[in-house]
Amino acid sequence: MQFKDVSRLVVDRVDRGEFAVHRDLFRDPEIFELEMRHIFEGTWVFLGMASQIPKPNDFFTTNIGRTPVIVSRSAKGELAAFINSCRHRGAILCHTDSGNSKYHVCNYHGWAYDSGGKVVDIKDRKAAGYPESFDRDDHNLMPLGRFGEYRGILFGSLNPDVPSLEEHLGETRTFLDMVMDQSPQGMELIPGVSRYTFKGNWKLQIENCVDLYHLTSAHPSFIEIVNRRKSGESKHGLKALDFNDYRLPGVVRGSYTFEHGHAMVWGGNAAPEVRPLWSMIDEVKGRVGALRAQWMLSTRNLTIYPNVQFAENASLQIRVIRPLSVDKTEMTIYCLAPVGEPDDAREFRIRQYEDFFNSTGLATPDDTTSYEDCQIGYRARRIEWQQGYVRAIGMVQRGADDYAKELGVNPATSMSGNFDIQDETVFHAGYREWMRLVKKGMEGAAKAKPAGIGKQAAKKAGATKPAVKKAVANKAAVNKTRAKKAVLKKSAPSKARGKAKGRAR
Ligand code: FES
Ligand SMILES: [Fe+2]
Repeated sequence: MQFKDVSRLVVDRVDRGEFAVHRDLFRDPEIFELEMRHIFEGTWVFLGMASQIPKPNDFFTTNIGRTPVIVSRSAKGELAAFINSCRHRGAILCHTDSGNSKYHVCNYHGWAYDSGGKVVDIKDRKAAGYPESFDRDDHNLMPLGRFGEYRGILFGSLNPDVPSLEEHLGETRTFLDMVMDQSPQGMELIPGVSRYTFKGNWKLQIENCVDLYHLTSAHPSFIEIVNRRKSGESKHGLKALDFNDYRLPGVVRGSYTFEHGHAMVWGGNAAPEVRPLWSMIDEVKGRVGALRAQWMLSTRNLTIYPNVQFAENASLQIRVIRPLSVDKTEMTIYCLAPVGEPDDAREFRIRQYEDFFNSTGLATPDDTTSYEDCQIGYRARRIEWQQGYVRAIGMVQRGADDYAKELGVNPATSMSGNFDIQDETVFHAGYREWMRLVKKGMEGAAKAKPAGIGKQAAKKAGATKPAVKKAVANKAAVNKTRAKKAVLKKSAPSKARGKAKGRAR
């Protein structure tokens, strides 16, 4: 695909009231390849939570784009992330979602690595007659280009040339703090995971998390059941978030977009007691201040582009997006909870979670069915452009609105008002980042030197002897830096950034 072809697929002229997205973004396999290469394999991607691997030698597996990854805690307790591929002939080493193992031994020819990624045995090495050059090669598991942690949330990038994780997360850190500050003892994933696929493009999920416009039309069963519970018609009295409350006088909702494609919608909560956190709110208030505590009781759906969503509405959920093909996506979802919350609050949280989420919940199937309906609709090649991304375009302001200012956050754009606005401009940030990363990646690929790095590649490209030497030195330097960056010291939970900056009230 040509550079100019990609450039025309998103029309971003907000100053003229125009924003449009071409349907090829959702249906063209060539575009999907570009996304894997330049977005998923080109920027920071969510890997998991440090709390998933609390003990030495714990590990879990995941993917960055198409690349299988192991995230591990070494015997010394250091966090590290590696490509889950044997350095010999490529077989994956870990086949399970998670586990505890001091060593990872390849099923194929038996090369063995420790939990820190170091090769500890090359089977029958002495008898093999390997040349010296083999001994000079690095046989350890390949570390990621970058690996980082924010408040126990782990991210990795295959591409070493990315901004710092702090910079990547930017102003969203205040809202991540609101997720991670719900207990003085930290947060934990409730055991069990739900994984499902839908026959639709991954960006349908990116949009949906911050799409208020669909609530009343796509989730009538949930709304109706909540009504019946409230009226007493239903004998099952589970208290749950009521979308009707969004329309009560004085209830404000809004949206923020951030640099690097992140976006959030939020809504004031007319019934804060219908939250599991309510039972702990005095302690939370004492620790983070009244304003932040109030925000923590609000509903907030936050997308950290491109693959993770923290959805705090009917319960607190982490959603991990894994694109499988242009029209198939895998979702892995977890319920997140404060460590040490009272038993009745924990039970309430789980009941609320399964009520709304999971492929068996009252809402998730509505969404996935809608995604699949859209994907079928995209077969209509005669229709090129999506419509409606300009909804509420005149109501968006650059920078912080009063609510963001009060909180000390500086988003790229803000929008706040009554529920019925249901703006669709909140999607712009994701498409803007999409275009930035794809363009940057395509430009980089066009400029890339044929020699790349490494002796073989340099020789193959016909480089002179000094050039080959330089390439080998570069490769060694890159590997050294990668190894350093890819290992994090065993870390105590970091202090809330907000507190450090004096933002809490
Ligand atoms: S592929 Fe792993 S030892 Fe051969
Ligand atoms: Fe939904």
